[in-house]
Amino acid sequence: MTILVTGGAGFIGSNFVLDWLAASDEAVLNVDKLTYAGNLHNLAALSGDPRHIFVRGDIGDAQLMGALLAQHQPRAVLNFAAESHVDRSILGPAEFIQTNIWGTFQLLEQVRAYWAALDASAKATFRLLHVSTDEVYGSLAASEPAFTETNRYEPNSPYSASKAASDHLVRAYHHTYGVPVLTTNCSNNYGPLHFPEKLIPLMIVNAQAGKPLPVYGDGMQIRDWLYVKDHCSAIRSVLAGGRVGETYNIGGWNEKPNLDIVHTVCDLLDELKPRADQQSYRTQITYVTDRPGHDRRYAINARKIERELGWKPAETFETGIRKTVQWYLDNPQWVAQVQSGAYREWVATQYAQA
Ligand code: NAD
Ligand code: DAU
Repeated sequence: MTILVTGGAGFIGSNFVLDWLAASDEAVLNVDKLTYAGNLHNLAALSGDPRHIFVRGDIGDAQLMGALLAQHQPRAVLNFAAESHVDRSILGPAEFIQTNIWGTFQLLEQVRAYWAALDASAKATFRLLHVSTDEVYGSLAASEPAFTETNRYEPNSPYSASKAASDHLVRAYHHTYGVPVLTTNCSNNYGPLHFPEKLIPLMIVNAQAGKPLPVYGDGMQIRDWLYVKDHCSAIRSVLAGGRVGETYNIGGWNEKPNLDIVHTVCDLLDELKPRADQQSYRTQITYVTDRPGHDRRYAINARKIERELGWKPAETFETGIRKTVQWYLDNPQWVAQVQSGAYREWVATQYAQA
C-alpha cells in the first residue's frame, strides 16, 4: 500500500512523512515542487529508504499527477502543498491563486478520474485528505467563542482566501462527484524544520544572530499554537477514522498573544544559550509596522476531533516550545542552509520599512 503526500518537503509535510515512516512500513510517494519553502534536507534521514519515493512536481501538472496516480495506485492522497506565508501573499498573491486554487483544482480533477476508475473495494476505502487552516474563518473579537466547524468562512488575506477557495472546491468534489474527501482546519503550527520566515523560527534565528525581533503592531494579536507533531498525529487520526465529507478543526488549546510568544522564546534562549553580554534577548524586540489587514485573534474549538476520534494534543506549549528552541540550537547547519540568497532577499523586502 502507498499514500501520496503533496508538499512533503515543506515544514508540516516533511514532519508528517518522517513521523509516518517512523511508525509504518506503508510507502510514501512524495510530490513537491520544491519552491523556496521546500527543502530536501528535511528528509535527509530517509535517504536510501525505499519506502520514500520523491518526485519533484507541481500539483497543478495534470499529466504528471494523473500518471503518478495510475502508476502508484495510492490508497490515499494527502494534500499539504500550498503557498503558506500570509506576508508573501500580501506582497505577491498570484502564486497563491496559482497553487492553492488552480493547483488544488487540477489535483481534484486527477483524483476524481483515478478514484472513479478504482474497483468497488478500493473505491470505498480511498480518501483525499485536504490540509487547511483556521484562517479561513477570519478574525475573532476577544469575547467571541473559538471557531467550530460550522463557523462561516470569512477569509481576510489573499492566503486565507485562496485556502478557503480550495476548501470549497474539495467540498464540492465530494458533494457533486462523491469523491471521498476529508478536510482539516488547523491553527498555527511550530516545531522542528519550520522555515524562518514565520514568527517563532524567525525570532529564534534573529535572536541568535543579534538582529532585531520584529513585532508587528502592538504584538497583542492572538494565535492558537500547536506543536507540529501533534498536527501530524491529528491528520493520521482523521485519515484513519474521519467521516467522509466532514471537516475537522485541529488546535492546541493554546491561545497566546504574539508578545508572550516572543518573550517565551527570549527567556528560553536566555536560559539555554545566554548572550555573551548577559543581557536578555528581550532587549532585541523591535515594534514594526503592522501587517495590512492583520487578523486580531484566532482560536480553535477542537472538541469534534476529540469526541469523534479521541485525538488530543500530546504537547503543552511549554514542552513544545522548549523542544523547538532546543532543536534550532542543535541544528545550526539546517538554519544556515535555508538562509540562502533568496531568503535574504525576502527578509530585506519584508522588513525594509521597519
Ligand atoms: P510550507 O510553505 O512550509 O510548505 C509547503 C510545501 O509545498 C513546500 O515544500 C513547497 O515546495 C510545496 N509546494 C508549493 N507549491 C507547490 C505546488 N504547486 N506543487 C507541489 N508542491 C508545492 O507550508 P507548511 O507550513 O508546511 O503548510 C503545509 C500545509 O498546511 C499548507 O496547506 C498550509 O496551508 C497548511 N497549514 C499550515 C499551518 C502552519 O501553521 N504552518 C497551519 C494550518 C494549516
Ligand atoms: O493559523 C494558521 C496559519 O498560521 C497557517 O495557515 C499559515 O500557513 C501560517 O503561516 C500561520 O499564519 P500566521 O500569519 O498566523 O503566522 P506567522 O508566523 O506569519 O505570524 C504569526 C503572528 O506573528 C501573526 O500575528 C503575525 C506576527 N508576526 C509575524 C512575523 C513573521 C510578527 O509580529 N512579526 C513577524 O516578523
